Amino acid sequence: MQQKLEALRAEIESAMQKTETGRALYEVKVKFQTGLKGVMSGMKDLPKEDRPAFGKIVNEFKQNMEEKFAARETVVKKMEMDKKYAAERIDITMPGKAYKAGALHPITLVKNQLIDIFAGMGFKVFEGPEIETDYYNFTALNTPKDHPARDMQDTFYLADNLLLRTQTSAGQIRVMEKETPPIKILSPGRVFRSDDDATHSPMFHQMEGLVVDKGITLCDLQGMLAEFARKMFTSSTKVRLRPSYFPFTEPSVEVDLSCSECGGKGCRLCKGTGWIEVLGAGMVNRHVLENCGVDPDEYTGFAFGMGIERIAMLKYGINNIKTLFENDTRFLTQFEE
Ligand code: PHE
Repeated sequence: MQQKLEALRAEIESAMQKTETGRALYEVKVKFQTGLKGVMSGMKDLPKEDRPAFGKIVNEFKQNMEEKFAARETVVKKMEMDKKYAAERIDITMPGKAYKAGALHPITLVKNQLIDIFAGMGFKVFEGPEIETDYYNFTALNTPKDHPARDMQDTFYLADNLLLRTQTSAGQIRVMEKETPPIKILSPGRVFRSDDDATHSPMFHQMEGLVVDKGITLCDLQGMLAEFARKMFTSSTKVRLRPSYFPFTEPSVEVDLSCSECGGKGCRLCKGTGWIEVLGAGMVNRHVLENCGVDPDEYTGFAFGMGIERIAMLKYGINNIKTLFENDTRFLTQFEE
């Protein structure tokens, strides 16, 4: 019996030494208990007087082995923790992952800059709806149904009387209907036209300006635009007004800026003319003032409308409008401030 106990001890101790996990140690313990049961079952074959002494030996053996298991458990637990920590180890000397911060889109940058420039001249911002009625987008702007000027803007109609606004000029009417002069507003927003090539997109942004007060003249328009040109481009940028036509302004002008690329000498950008067309403008047509309940004999006003994409393209030397809408970050990151 004694020998059997010694054999069991040797076997269990060597198995115990090899364990590295709590699970393996538990399995050895089960094996030990089964082995011990086996040895104890031989007890009935012992002479009766020897049994108490052997019982004592078994108890001591069991206690001794349990201490060994407890000691091994401490070692195995530490091994497990060490392994876990090693796996979770963070090398604080490694370079970190940099998360890229977003930045403003060039159209937003130019829009904000325009607002800054005109806010400095006392303009307030008004934003009108993108879905407009035929009345605000055309009729009230002196462009009734069947007016040939409607052909200039290929319109997306949603219903007979509803459309995606083709111009932020619709906002002029909304403001003049509500407010009494003096009026000085700036109206940025998306507009939509069925138009699509390298310099036109079916959706683009405009910035509208409207000033109505007593004694406003075309000279006020020219002066404000000159200030805008100097601030948006260079201090030597010049403004030129050319006669044009819009149903809602009279007289109407097309506004050119001296080419920022060649300074007016003539280059590829300005097609050799030294000037670049940037916006439409004019004195608010008296019919438009009347439509909004403003007395044209008391008040006059000017309005202008420019494409924000066009300004961004000129300012940053972008030759295809599509790049502004593709959202390719390789393009957009160039404008990060
Ligand atoms: N709404 C005109 C356009 O989109 C621009 C414009 C605005 C012209 C205001 C004159 C006055 O072409």
